[in-house]
Amino acid sequence: MSAPKALLRANEISGSPAGEAVPRHVAVIMDGNGRWAAARGLPRIAGHRAGAEAVRRTIRACVDAGVEWLTIYAFSSENWRRPAAEVADLTGLLRHYLRHEVAELDRGGVRVRFIGERARFGPSMTAEIEAAELRTASNARLNLNIALSYGARDEIVAAARALAADAAAGLIDPAAIAEAAFANRLTTAGQPDPDLIIRTSGEQRLSNFLLWQSAYAELVFLDVLWPDFDAAQFTLALEAYAGRERRFGARPV
Ligand code: IPE
Ligand code: IPE
Ligand code: MG
Repeated sequence: MSAPKALLRANEISGSPAGEAVPRHVAVIMDGNGRWAAARGLPRIAGHRAGAEAVRRTIRACVDAGVEWLTIYAFSSENWRRPAAEVADLTGLLRHYLRHEVAELDRGGVRVRFIGERARFGPSMTAEIEAAELRTASNARLNLNIALSYGARDEIVAAARALAADAAAGLIDPAAIAEAAFANRLTTAGQPDPDLIIRTSGEQRLSNFLLWQSAYAELVFLDVLWPDFDAAQFTLALEAYAGRERRFGARPV
């Protein structure tokens, strides 16, 4: 892709007087790997591999910008519906990433956590996921959540099920279940909600990503394909964010 180009209005790019605010938590829907590969006459896996490079660039950009939390959507619970060969390619790539990147993330002070149904990847990959979390548990420069076999509806249903079980067992009073109690049953318990959600590839939807947590997130849609995402694109998204007025339902001042 040539110059950074975004699906943004000019006033969003220029930034408001309130300007400069850096989001504490950025979440990214990394979309467009397949289209990137197709445009080059390459197999889809080549796009996914190039996408892994974009993940490295994004982590660096977050550290440089002072972002504290980064959540990346790497594989959705619906992505299991893709052809078996692509699922196998993606799983292989994820396993390779786990084996070869964790040491580097650890050196960079990145704490890695995984959200989603890790068990669906089988016991050996689950063990590698847990080892990565354990190895990086004391790091604090950047918190990285990798969403794998993640679906927000699944996550919300699991939280409801856990609360219902506690209520049935007489451990909690259903009338006392408040937002915080619910949030504490999600896989993101204790984490700040995303301030900014970026989706690449021009699609403008959430695709079952962080539905509860994104209640007041600012959404930025970029038409760059994920493998082409770089520091300039990241800056564009941060500028769009800085130009937004966040109200959280309150009266504008
Ligand atoms: C995003 O790229 C990666 C995953 C969903 C795993 P896609 O594979 O969805 O690429 P497109 O959307 O078909 O271009
Ligand atoms: C969302 O992308 C999931 C990830 C980026 C991992 P998809 O390509 O799966 O989403 P849809 O199917 O276009 O909504
Ligand atoms: Mg896609």
